[in-house]
Amino acid sequence: MKYKVIAIDGPAGAGKSTVAKRLSIKLGYTHIDSGSLFRAITYIVIKLGIDINDVEAIIHHTKNSTIDFMNNSIYLNGVDISAEIRENTVNTKVSYIAMIPEIRDIVVNIQRKIAANKNVVVDGRDIGTTVFPRAFIKFFLTASIEERARRRYNELLDKEKFTLEEIKKQIIERDYIDTNREASPLRQAEDAILIDTSGKNVDEVVSEMLYYISIKGEV
Ligand code: C5P
Repeated sequence: MKYKVIAIDGPAGAGKSTVAKRLSIKLGYTHIDSGSLFRAITYIVIKLGIDINDVEAIIHHTKNSTIDFMNNSIYLNGVDISAEIRENTVNTKVSYIAMIPEIRDIVVNIQRKIAANKNVVVDGRDIGTTVFPRAFIKFFLTASIEERARRRYNELLDKEKFTLEEIKKQIIERDYIDTNREASPLRQAEDAILIDTSGKNVDEVVSEMLYYISIKGEV
């Protein structure tokens, strides 16, 4: 492989995107947040009022939209929707959209296209298993459900509308769907390094990852 891929997978709230972003800055790599691509498609579905069971319409409208990922922002038909995709209405629907095999194929292609001519740090659920099975190094991040729920709750822009307990329930449901779906479910790749981020801050996790990367060879 000419360019390097650092794959980071794990359940919601494990800290993947935050450490992926920090790691990409340290290494001078491009960060691909694959969850934001599924979130952008979910946003299209909500915005156009498409029924989440209407798979044909979802595929049709996704194919007719332009989704771009640039400088850590996500654009839909040229409009920056980075804030909108973090709303809780997206959180509750995204795993249903991510179950659709055709949608997964579209998202896989976007990621592979970006990684074709640059070094990347990619985070998601199926990066080490499906999207980049030959990645230079693979990590699987996890944390206790309490800590993951707290992180996601603190991240919410519309916090006042939800309780921590509701967010915890949503995460458990999302993890269940992500782990049990047929198309590339959330799973630790056999050759992935497991890191439990509970009680660790971002710098500690990133240092641990840099240590494993340095053992692997030059970056
Ligand atoms: O990581 P994030 O919480 O933004 O991901 C949102 C959702 O997108 C996940 O719960 C999952 O359903 C889906 N996803 C996926 N595969 C990925 C990344 C995200 O199925 N590689």
